[in-house]
Amino acid sequence: MYSEKVMDHFSNPRNVGEIENADGVGEVGNAHCGDIMKIYLKVEDDKIVDVKFKTFGCGAAIATSSIATEMIKGKTIEEAEKLTNKAVVESLDGLPAAKMHCSVLAEEAVKAAIEDYRNKNNK
Ligand code: FES
Repeated sequence: MYSEKVMDHFSNPRNVGEIENADGVGEVGNAHCGDIMKIYLKVEDDKIVDVKFKTFGCGAAIATSSIATEMIKGKTIEEAEKLTNKAVVESLDGLPAAKMHCSVLAEEAVKAAIEDYRNKNNK
């Protein structure tokens, strides 16, 4: 039911952890399943030079946050802001319908971290 990519990112999640003194932090949750996702950004010259995440949630939430961090690493804030849950799902070679909301959480966590960065830097 899960693609190999989902299993890979679930079993070996990339960029797990926290960033001390992060330039932007976003935390979002889903009221239905209770899962929580937190994303930390390190930004230099409007470019995401490092990103880490912590997810307290299901396997798909871990896989989507893992791949989302890979997709925005090295990107500019403007580029990262365009990340959609659809792109996340495509990069994972699909998700079961019941797990689509997990990818929405990843998109929202990235957007929340970017918003926090913008607020902190008056951008
Ligand atoms: Fe809710 Fe996956 S079941 S984020």
